[in-house]
Amino acid sequence: MDRGFLFGDGVYEVFPTYNKNIFGLDSHLNRLQDGLDAINIKNPHSKSEWINLINKLLSFDTVNTNQAIYLQVSRGCDKDRKHTHGDLKPTVYLQSTSILPRIKDNLLKGKSAISRDDIRWSQCNTKATSLLANIMYAQEAKENNAEEAILCRDGIVTEGSSSNVFIVKNNCIFTHPKSPNILPGITREIVIDCAKNLNLKVKEVTFNKNALMSADEVWITSSTREILPITLIDNLKINTGNAGPLWSIIYDSYQDSKNANRSNSGRVFEKIKSTAKN
Ligand code: PDD
Repeated sequence: MDRGFLFGDGVYEVFPTYNKNIFGLDSHLNRLQDGLDAINIKNPHSKSEWINLINKLLSFDTVNTNQAIYLQVSRGCDKDRKHTHGDLKPTVYLQSTSILPRIKDNLLKGKSAISRDDIRWSQCNTKATSLLANIMYAQEAKENNAEEAILCRDGIVTEGSSSNVFIVKNNCIFTHPKSPNILPGITREIVIDCAKNLNLKVKEVTFNKNALMSADEVWITSSTREILPITLIDNLKINTGNAGPLWSIIYDSYQDSKNANRSNSGRVFEKIKSTAKN
């Protein structure tokens, strides 16, 4: 009778962890809170309790692989199956899966994508567990031997079925601005920070499908896929059909951020512990 199962009534998060250090921990916990607020579920745990749960799950991994922690909070179980609900105790579910290593040399040829019309609802900024449209796009991509489906709403490129989209044109990096039409990706935010720290030009503005197809570079970003170059869309080459120079720079910078997170994780953990009551 769980409403997560019956209605997809819940929100989720995916935390990437490297050698048992959670990358972007604070940002993921904040986005979880935003999602819970958006659908009126009271957060069942404090920040430090979430951290303890994630660390407990990580402690079961004895071979020290990099893990993506999937965490779901549903509205809980009810007595009847009806659309409305009373005051329920949220259900918490966590699992972990190993993250594929994204080795630079293996990515130089890039990946392919398909493009599709974005027919999703207008609250894509909430990381809801009801992902019917997203999974249909992802499956279509898979059946076309593609890495991702890139979505366009009214001609504007929004995001991928489970990733954010970036393009590069004339050494400027573009990505859709935060809005109800995209998920505010944590990797997206880290990539923007990396680019700004490198004094690269970044514009959070919308761009259309023509701009996508004629871009110098296209990337997709997510917590589990990091930053992947997309070099073929709908069987058409993007530029030369190889990963571009800015992707290479941002890839390196992202790896540096992961390593910096590892050496800082003790400090971050202390900071979170001290602010956990907020
Ligand atoms: N998906 N947009 C959508 C629709 C997504 O589902 C995701 C991530 C992203 C990227 O967000 P982030 O950088 O915070 O991972 C953008 C996760 C990985 C998933 O559903 O498994």
